[in-house]
Amino acid sequence: MREFIYYSERARTTGNFGDDLMKAGRMDIACQIVIMAFFISHKIRNSVKLHLIFNGPPDSPKHIEMFPGKALGEDSDHDISKKDVAGLIKKLLYKYKPGIKNEVIPGYHIEKKGIIDVVNEMLDEGKEVFILDKKGEDIREIKIGKNPVFILGDHDGIPRFELKRLKKLDIKKISVGNEMYFASQTMTIVQNELDRRGIE
Ligand SMILES: C[S@@+](CC[C@H](N)C(=O)[O-])C[C@H]1O[C@@H](n2cnc3c(N)ncnc32)[C@H](O)[C@@H]1O
Repeated sequence: MREFIYYSERARTTGNFGDDLMKAGRMDIACQIVIMAFFISHKIRNSVKLHLIFNGPPDSPKHIEMFPGKALGEDSDHDISKKDVAGLIKKLLYKYKPGIKNEVIPGYHIEKKGIIDVVNEMLDEGKEVFILDKKGEDIREIKIGKNPVFILGDHDGIPRFELKRLKKLDIKKISVGNEMYFASQTMTIVQNELDRRGIE
């Protein structure tokens, strides 16, 4: 399995963010990320787990975990739809319950947790975590094991204070090239690299 963590410092943390996704802390970018995480032409990726960490108002932080897994495309009740990703995010945010990791629908959870705690848990589980950064080591030069985790920022990138805290953890910075790409483009490049290496 491959995992991605998308961090947004401004994305809204309740479901009442209306229809203007750009004004909801660039929820439009979070929606693109969801689409790029799970959809390819004529196929749905069932070995991807996506973590959305939203740190915007009014009740930050929120950690949404999406792992549609094998139910994807098979169980129409829980099928993810490209057409209403914003609706899915809203639903998950509305169903947040204090004190628990709430499984809103099979494979989709929400809880109150920030990026450092999410990453620390992964490191404790022995997962290899990378942060995607233009100035990092070239992805083509590095070894990637099974079950890798990749952290991406939104249009503003990962804020300095979070980067400082992440730096203290065992995380390697990796780059997909010298251009600054959109977060969703970066994710697609990484997915392609893993596909080509045969890493699920
Ligand atoms: C639009 S970029 C962020 C731009 C932001 N102004 C900054 O300086 O970080 C969105 C995210 O995509 C990832 N990214 C973009 N280009 C990349 C590259 N060449 N290599 C690795 N990651 C990249 C980073 O994680 C970044 O936070």
